[in-house]
Amino acid sequence: MGFSLTGPVTHIKGVLTLPGDKSIAHRAIIISALCRGKTKIENFPASKDCLYTLSVFKKLGIRIDLRFSREIVVYGKGLRGLDKPAGPIFVGESGTTLRLLLGVFSGQDFKVKLITARSLSRRPMLRVTLPLRMMGAQISANGDPQKEEYPPITIRGGRLEPITYNIPVASAQVKSAILLAGLFSRAKTTVFEPVATRDHTERMLKLFKADIKVKGNKIVIAGDKDLSSPGRVYIPGDISSASFFIVLANILPDAEITIRRVGINPSRTGIIKVLKRMGADIRCARDKSPVSKFEPMADITARSSLLKGVIVEKREIPSLIDELPILMVAASLAKGETVFKGVGELRVKETDRIRSMSENLRRMGVPIRIIKNARSEDIVIKGVKELKGTRVKSFSDHRTAMSMIVAGLKAQGATSIDDISCIDKSFPDFLSILKKLIR
Ligand code: S3P
Repeated sequence: MGFSLTGPVTHIKGVLTLPGDKSIAHRAIIISALCRGKTKIENFPASKDCLYTLSVFKKLGIRIDLRFSREIVVYGKGLRGLDKPAGPIFVGESGTTLRLLLGVFSGQDFKVKLITARSLSRRPMLRVTLPLRMMGAQISANGDPQKEEYPPITIRGGRLEPITYNIPVASAQVKSAILLAGLFSRAKTTVFEPVATRDHTERMLKLFKADIKVKGNKIVIAGDKDLSSPGRVYIPGDISSASFFIVLANILPDAEITIRRVGINPSRTGIIKVLKRMGADIRCARDKSPVSKFEPMADITARSSLLKGVIVEKREIPSLIDELPILMVAASLAKGETVFKGVGELRVKETDRIRSMSENLRRMGVPIRIIKNARSEDIVIKGVKELKGTRVKSFSDHRTAMSMIVAGLKAQGATSIDDISCIDKSFPDFLSILKKLIR
């Protein structure tokens, strides 16, 4: 589905609530399913990726009722309660579903084949298959287990050995796969992270009374212990989805928006910290309700701002990894240069986002340099006064598509995007919410 718009738009205003955080939603389903009893999940997002996780657990014999548009109820069957699925499991383009499920399947006494849609079949999996094999899972995949592996993946699990593992890449998906596998191990599993990544799995496991301890970059989980449901989980609004509206408010001349109950887990708020450093007018009013204890939430208000270039350090990248495309748009309109250091992981997201965003923004007139160094890459963006409307491409990537719509709203003239159907992956309501704000 192509899309075009004519800019610039100067004014947006509104108050909104967003569907729940995609990362937290995956974990809420998985952990509720592994826990005996009923868990109500509120503010569940109907994004394609989360619906894949939901449909997989139905195929594994878990009853899941859809109550209202944003509420589901999971009837978990305990750690050993999953049924062998009737055939291969398809996870579409959802990398989180696939990698986290590999952790769960490592503990199951059956064989299952996981197949994916096209772009996920090109994303690296050795980072997960390697530690899970060390724990005892039998896994075969496309590619070479000495070099790199890709889906489809066949896995047969069982009772696992505990491991102590230094994760070589900063990846919450890898960490989470090992922790979930750790639930099925006969003793304690320990992981060390190179840099802190989103800790939603740890928080959710604690909420379900798993025996998990976190100290600095070390996480220890004890296996073979039944989980216990809190009964109800509220999923905060998705900060990754919110970031498109926050940046839009910051770059337009007459803008003010408030987004209610957004997740502000410190491992995810890199976008807010960096935008504030750039001079953005963003205020967060902490939510004090009890549900906020498990994952902190805030009402976020963003207004028109004059942005300036900043340096974003490598250690900050995991806390804003999914927001880099929209931050690149903000940097394109900031005064001076912005440097994003150590962003190599962007090459292996839904698409190569260094390429997708730099090609598109260059077409809009933004000077961008990519500097390759020994272990990663830096992006240097020189801000411009005005973006030029032009033809750009989504590269079938939801975050590239939404970032380029935001850029197009600030650009002079017409911007067209080849295909924006990919937006459904994380944020099917994006355009309808945007239209209401602009009206
Ligand atoms: C995610 C972790 C990140 C992120 C992805 C969701 C998660 O990926 O980019 O969109 O839910 O754990 P990596 O673990 O590959 O860094």
